[in-house]
Amino acid sequence: MCGIFGIVGNHDQQLGEILLGAARRLSYRGYDSVGCATIDARGHIDLRKDVGKIDEVNERLDFAAMRGQRGMVQLRWATFGAPSVENAQPHLDSNGALIGAHNGNIVNNVSLRERFMDEGLTVRGTNDGESCVHAVESHVNQGNGILDAIRKAARDLQGDYAFVIASKDTNESDPAMYAIKNGSGLVVGIGDGMTCVSSDLPSILPLTRKILRIKDGETVSLWPDRVEIRRVNDGLIVEREPEMFTEGMDAAEKGGYAHFMEKEIHEQPQAVAELIHWLVASPHVEPFLDSMRKARHLYLVGCGTSYHACMIGASYFNRLAGIPAIPVLAPQFTETLASILTPDDTVVLVSQSGETKDVLNALNAARRSNATLLGILNVLGSTLMEASDHYLPLACGYEISVPATKTFLNQVVMFLYLADQLRAGGPEIDWDSLPGLIEKTLHATDAAARRAAEILNTHNEMYYLGYGMTLGVAMEGALKLKEITYAHCEGMLSSEFKHGPLSAVYEGYPVLFVSGPSDAAMMVNHISEVACRGGHPIAVACEDGLLRKNVSEYVVIPDAAQEIATLLAVLPLQLLSYHMSLLRGLDPDFPRNLSKTLTVD
Ligand code: F6R
Repeated sequence: MCGIFGIVGNHDQQLGEILLGAARRLSYRGYDSVGCATIDARGHIDLRKDVGKIDEVNERLDFAAMRGQRGMVQLRWATFGAPSVENAQPHLDSNGALIGAHNGNIVNNVSLRERFMDEGLTVRGTNDGESCVHAVESHVNQGNGILDAIRKAARDLQGDYAFVIASKDTNESDPAMYAIKNGSGLVVGIGDGMTCVSSDLPSILPLTRKILRIKDGETVSLWPDRVEIRRVNDGLIVEREPEMFTEGMDAAEKGGYAHFMEKEIHEQPQAVAELIHWLVASPHVEPFLDSMRKARHLYLVGCGTSYHACMIGASYFNRLAGIPAIPVLAPQFTETLASILTPDDTVVLVSQSGETKDVLNALNAARRSNATLLGILNVLGSTLMEASDHYLPLACGYEISVPATKTFLNQVVMFLYLADQLRAGGPEIDWDSLPGLIEKTLHATDAAARRAAEILNTHNEMYYLGYGMTLGVAMEGALKLKEITYAHCEGMLSSEFKHGPLSAVYEGYPVLFVSGPSDAAMMVNHISEVACRGGHPIAVACEDGLLRKNVSEYVVIPDAAQEIATLLAVLPLQLLSYHMSLLRGLDPDFPRNLSKTLTVD
């Protein structure tokens, strides 16, 4: 998840320290490259950028010394194009007259780059932020003023993004900088002889607390003493009063949520939308599908939460595409299957960090067989990305909270997308409706998840049971609960419960059942085994009359097909764990003994 910040002053000044401060306050969003640009009163552009952390790059390039009237800084989290100096932002247009930087994903980047090259523009890298600048340049070259060029460029750029752009050649009456919002965050700050614009509040608040929030489909023009918002579609001015932001920095970083986990849970509709937009346009998908189609054996390998995504993914490949896929825990894969792989096999290694040692061990063991190695990861530039034959990014930005939430959902959505593409009769899923359904589920289940948390909170051990496709969901829900509440919760197959664990049930013992719509009748058998022994069955499922009659608590998810209901069911389980963690006075973001990236055996 990149971050942008731009500032407009009324005289040349030392802007370097201000840009560095803004970059540091955007850094919690995650990044691999950093770049600053300033423009002085004579229109001279100073651009410095490189791969690395802010302080190391500053040591090399001395951002702190940069002077100018206007400036911008960008932190890049690589999605299109590897981390490199060319792909780091900001970007110049062909003649060095415009400079800009973006946040988000331009999903038609590949075809746009070809168009710009055909038009004779100088395309220096493969990053999609550069395409934003060239899109504006292209319309300026056709005789448009910058603001009109930005509005026309918005018709060319597909995806979710925000960008800032400035021209070195401006009169005093012209805006000194422009920005546009379409799906990614954009906030404006109005100070004393200064205005600024950023992906989010933390970089603005030390400069001013007078804030204007920009909406999707709007441009904003900045002068040192005023700003003007216009609608992209018809160019009409939008009147909006600034607000005074009174809360602290911590609240600003968490986007108004109490914890990063809560924020990341609620970012899921957007994260899924961005992933889908990316997948639909990406040339990286076909080689992936091809290797899966051709595989003699298809293994899905990961640890912890990523392994649970593999379990659900395997059900999708089996049931939707008729492709046998085998989910395996990474260390078990290394110890057992790695030694019998052949060059005709395909191994998909799944890891949000791309650095988990157990997964890299599996990758190295598999490498010896010449099998095809595919990576699914969130961190671009990670070891898994570099070592895979092909990779797909989860495109959900930086996940700060230790418990994985949005990266898990995007792993599952990724598998569902791939399985849908591999169906014998072609894709069937209405992908446009999925983000809305996720949003609806979060709203619809929060209160019931909170109630279930209150019930479970009075216990220190419990079971979560799933069946078929929902087994991975039950196991993921149980892991999330253990991780951030420290209660013991075992996730298992509901039909296995009678083979031993049933003896644990006593009066009021909680057992949570995650059911897909087509498993409800079978699930009722398993629920009855618990209920008739005095247990307290809780269901997470779409509305079903039979289930409702047989459970004590019901967390209802919106009606959906089996494969969609499966992934929706994880949302109330994330909320439940979060609420229970708070009931126990714990910090869900940083559970004891755990770390976000596990680079040890
Ligand atoms: C739980 C969690 C862990 C990770 C596991 C693998 O919320 O985050 O179980 O899923 O450590 O990590 P990655 O996906 O980075 O390989």
